[in-house]
Amino acid sequence: MTARYVIALDQGTTSSRAVLVDAQGRAVDAVQNPFPQIYPQPGWVEHAPSDILSSQLGALAELTVTHGLGPGDIAAIGITNQRETTVVWNRETGRPVGNAIVWQCRRTAPLIEAITRDAGAARAIADKTGLVPDAYFSASKIKWLLDNVPGARADARAGRLAFGTVDSWLVWTLTNGAVHATDPTNASRTLLYDIHRGCWDDDLLELFDIPASMLPEVRPSSGDFGVTANPAVVQGVPIRGVAGDQQAALFGQRCFAAGEAKNTYGTGCFLLMHTGGEACRSAHGLVTTLAASAPGAAGPEYALEGSVFAAGALVQWLRDELGLVDAAAETEALAESVPDTGGVYVVPAFTGLGAPHWDAEARGAILGLTRGTSRAQVVRAALEALAYQVYDLVVAMEADAGVPLRELNVDGGASTNGFLMQFQSDILRTPLIRPQNTEATALGAAFLAGLSAGFWRDAEELRDLPFASDRFEPRMGEERRARLLDGWSRAVGRTMTR
Ligand code: G3P
Repeated sequence: MTARYVIALDQGTTSSRAVLVDAQGRAVDAVQNPFPQIYPQPGWVEHAPSDILSSQLGALAELTVTHGLGPGDIAAIGITNQRETTVVWNRETGRPVGNAIVWQCRRTAPLIEAITRDAGAARAIADKTGLVPDAYFSASKIKWLLDNVPGARADARAGRLAFGTVDSWLVWTLTNGAVHATDPTNASRTLLYDIHRGCWDDDLLELFDIPASMLPEVRPSSGDFGVTANPAVVQGVPIRGVAGDQQAALFGQRCFAAGEAKNTYGTGCFLLMHTGGEACRSAHGLVTTLAASAPGAAGPEYALEGSVFAAGALVQWLRDELGLVDAAAETEALAESVPDTGGVYVVPAFTGLGAPHWDAEARGAILGLTRGTSRAQVVRAALEALAYQVYDLVVAMEADAGVPLRELNVDGGASTNGFLMQFQSDILRTPLIRPQNTEATALGAAFLAGLSAGFWRDAEELRDLPFASDRFEPRMGEERRARLLDGWSRAVGRTMTR
């Protein structure tokens, strides 16, 4: 029987999805399971590794049962995941030593501060990893678990513990412990991987006091990650693709060449520009990261990335904590019901500010309130804040790249919000292209797995898939745009701590 589908597993920050993709690159069906967020202290964020598994394996099982799919129907599984989030487990029992520390968690900010007091260490980290030393990335989270979970450090020294980002945790579980591996895109988010030499770095491991025996093997993003053998899901399906969700979205948007860029509106916002074989160094607070490559690439491929920590999370906060809307979809009509915010700005620095400001201690604010401020104006200000944050990233990226962005590909949950897309295009003064299938992340994982399994021939065939898209053209007057941007920059300035 010829396989008709590839399945993408998209393990995100707030939900796990399984997406069925056909040979035309259409998302035929998807199952999505949200799972609990754990906030043990202000600024701390955790996930139970068992919740990650039950939501993700449950989504896969439901998808295959609904469509009556056996191993012969599925050419391959591709995995994409929330990056940096850190799981440490015991290789012998398969049990995690504690909860996963999520990328948003700020508990290790003091640890990073202590390490980077040594300017030489900070420079070495940046030179080798392309990142800025920050609690966002995995290294300090691994160290925290080893230092704080009783017995963990001794077990790690004895070779009993394994570290993985969420992709590794899923691969390990799906293959019943046969494969402990990750891919270069995820490895490049740990602060432990030399993106130029393409290997784990002994000096950085020593700096963070992490035994090399814990680390997963790094395999190509479009490559062999074993075969499913877990009785909870369909068995005997090859896992042929792994990539961090932002690099997967870049691939899913078919940004394969230098200069092509995408922005994903997920829990956070992530702007990535492909820079080809050149690891372009940012002078404006962006990070350099590895892009996912198709099989047969001449060498490593890189991207410049700007990440802001709160995007969809801000809309969820309006809904769940402030109760200003019942559903995220309501924000569009509400924002459009008023002509402007009346001077209100929301700065969503819930877990500090990411690129290009990198201020771990900054916290969120709503500024410019008057007695007449309405619910609609606050909601509009929140959506506008997403667009302003992306503007700050684009300015930094254009300065690094030395050329203006011609157009920007967008995807992710909030890209379905028409008000936000128009405002984004206005503020950037750049056209936006939104594919009608906004599942770019899942599609990227499916593409990587499908290429490796021979389901698709090459990147050219993927480029030729007929994808419809919507286009947003800038239309705001320059005087208004400049005034709004000035207000935003003053609002951000008031939340900064340095
Ligand atoms: O770096 C964190 C990022 O990978 C999380 O993505 O889609 O879960 O917001 P998302």
